[in-house]
Amino acid sequence: MGLLIKNGRVIDPAQNLDRAADVLIVDGRVAAIEPGLGSSGHEVLDAADQVVCPGFIDVHVHLREPGQEYKETIATGARSAAAGGFAHVCCMPNTDPAIDDPSVVQLIQDRSVAAIGVKVHVFGAMSKANAGKELAEMGRLADAGVALFSDDAFPIQSSELMRRAMEYARMLHRGVTLHCEDKTLAGDGVMNEGPVSTLLGLRGIPNAAEDIHVARNIELSRLTGVRLHICHVSTRGSVDLVRRAKAQGLPVTAEGCPHHFCLTDEACLGYNTQAKVSPPLRSADDVAAVLEGLADGTLDCIATDHAPHAVNEKDCEFDRAMFGMVGLETVVPLTLDRLVRPGVVPLSEAIAKLTLHPAQVLLGDGQQPPPLADPLMGTLRLGAPGDVTVLDLDRRVVVEPEKLVSRSKNTPFGGWELTGSAVATVVDGKVLMRDGVLVDQEQG
Ligand code: DOR
Repeated sequence: MGLLIKNGRVIDPAQNLDRAADVLIVDGRVAAIEPGLGSSGHEVLDAADQVVCPGFIDVHVHLREPGQEYKETIATGARSAAAGGFAHVCCMPNTDPAIDDPSVVQLIQDRSVAAIGVKVHVFGAMSKANAGKELAEMGRLADAGVALFSDDAFPIQSSELMRRAMEYARMLHRGVTLHCEDKTLAGDGVMNEGPVSTLLGLRGIPNAAEDIHVARNIELSRLTGVRLHICHVSTRGSVDLVRRAKAQGLPVTAEGCPHHFCLTDEACLGYNTQAKVSPPLRSADDVAAVLEGLADGTLDCIATDHAPHAVNEKDCEFDRAMFGMVGLETVVPLTLDRLVRPGVVPLSEAIAKLTLHPAQVLLGDGQQPPPLADPLMGTLRLGAPGDVTVLDLDRRVVVEPEKLVSRSKNTPFGGWELTGSAVATVVDGKVLMRDGVLVDQEQG
């Protein structure tokens, strides 16, 4: 018995496919895409008036386990992902202990198998304990199955150490995904440096703190040949640098996050700690540049930087609040409402930014794909893993933080009314969410 997803509009950017068809998944793999497939013996998921896409992939998620389970666990984060429409998430190494040792990789792999079924790709630390002082044992981490290497949240300041980390990553057929921030410039800033920070009397982080490190890391990618993915691009300068690097043929990709394309630093007014994030929310001109980058393909991926924090870590003075916000359950409505509806990014391209392009980031040079990175991930080609996300473009959504599935509720989007949502998530032919409700919740 297989799973038949019936009557949908199938959009698969990898095949340039946009047509009415049924999708049949047998033994966890795509077996047919044809109109009018017979349903006999198969479980049926009706997708009439809905869009059927490859399963969404988020290349930037903080799952917090091990060490900060009060914010999120692999189990709760995976459920939040399934509820948001994600079949795959990639977890960042700033856990406690950091993902700098094969035993931590193993723990995450084991616990994700026991979770709801979303595939969890593990990103390894580049330096021991994320301290930026000495390299982690990257070879052992690659052997243990890490998909990419990252310094997220703890950007490596030494250009020499970054160069060596990139050389190892390249040798190990792994890309790197980097948080670009010059800490000497960012100092103890807590928000974007500009008129709003002045008005609030808060210390600012200038755009240059990001731009300088984007430029540095692009030059180090040129030097080492490593595939470089730039995390959470927030400034016009970064967008321009990535655009130029791509024009020069460098192996550089980048992501944009919903908070950076939906909000300016004015969201911090009133000392709203839900809007405190790193890199910070920027000016209207920067938001316009991120939108331009998403529209012209400079920003390949949409990623959440899902960063759960507990109530007391946000319900405090702005200076003391943690950076970050949850994102897995709001990214699809924000993308459909803010990018697709106004025509900034066509629907098929928005889907590509959540499927094909993140898959390419994970697959890297393709020579030694990481364990969960199937060469056909991110598409619905025949034989591909049966990972599917179903969208209802007309569903009205009101963001209610207390109803989020994530263990943490820190979002600046509470009360937003949006149109469009993920309504089903399927992994390897197994339905995790249907009609907007997690199946494990349906069962009680
Ligand atoms: O806002 C952020 N929160 N940015 C990061 O880079 C890290 C993240 C976190 O781990 O909380």
